[in-house]
Amino acid sequence: MEQAVTASEQTIIQTNKLCKTFSTGGVQQHVLKNLDLSINRGDFTVIMGASGAGKSTLLYALSGMDKPTLGKVAFDGRDITALSNDRLAVFRRKNCGFIFQQIYLMDNMSLMDNVLASGLLVSRDRKALAQRARELFGQVGLSEQDWRKFPAQLSGGEAQRGAVVRALINKPAVLFADEPTGALNSTSGTAVLDLLTQISRDGQSVVLVTHDIRSACRGNRVLYLQDGSLQGELDLGWYEEEGIRAKAGDDIENDTVVRRTERLRGFLADRGW
Ligand SMILES: Nc1ncnc2c1ncn2[C@@H]1O[C@H](COP(=O)(O)OP(=O)(O)OP(=O)(O)O)[C@@H](O)[C@H]1O
Ligand SMILES: [Mg+2]
Repeated sequence: MEQAVTASEQTIIQTNKLCKTFSTGGVQQHVLKNLDLSINRGDFTVIMGASGAGKSTLLYALSGMDKPTLGKVAFDGRDITALSNDRLAVFRRKNCGFIFQQIYLMDNMSLMDNVLASGLLVSRDRKALAQRARELFGQVGLSEQDWRKFPAQLSGGEAQRGAVVRALINKPAVLFADEPTGALNSTSGTAVLDLLTQISRDGQSVVLVTHDIRSACRGNRVLYLQDGSLQGELDLGWYEEEGIRAKAGDDIENDTVVRRTERLRGFLADRGW
């Protein structure tokens, strides 16, 4: 039986005493320990923490990619930890977009077909999907020549931008992104960050895991994960795009970015980052 978990209007994801323990060679590792966390609807939430802190593990649990050892995850008030694997797969397709730390594209299809394959799981309108895909490709700086290629013919950064388009094709309620700009240069990285900023402004929620300060300062809320639980959060307020647009190209010099970056660095330094 699915259990309804009450969530307030502004909460899209709520965890309750979330635990994840891995057993390797008889040794237990408690990666997430009784984690209580809420993600607000429409927020651009950033999760930071040292390598191995459990950020990817947390993202998998929040999105129903992996089941927690103990505890619950309520998504829109619905306990997703109680769903069967089949129902979980349907739920994820409709509600979640993923950009993984590793890029998984199907080798035997062009980039466009990879994106359409994801879209066709949810919609039958191939023409509308292709139109939306073209717009998204444009926004991340991929041309027709790029999206006609097969994954093996793409650079790492092109494949990563392709994965961003695939994650967004179904307009997911929540986009989960794990280091989405890891393989990108400054211009491509900014294009991806602009797109994430825009979708969160349009009401989709973004949960971003990153080590990169420039990426993290796009979020309005930063959470710090350490020793299996949250060690503080920073309210950065909404990112003001006008300031950025005015100085496109040298955004790191931009006042908005400098101010946000300083606050973020202070927050991280206090936590021994
Ligand atoms: N399937 C697994 N089996 C055993 N241990 C695992 C498994 N997945 C993750 N771990 C361990 O759990 C810990 C947290 O891993 P996780 O991938 O969540 O870290 P992370 O914070 O995302 O790190 P990074 O910043 O390096 O990506 C690590 O010590 C890792 O070795
Ligand atoms: Mg990780």
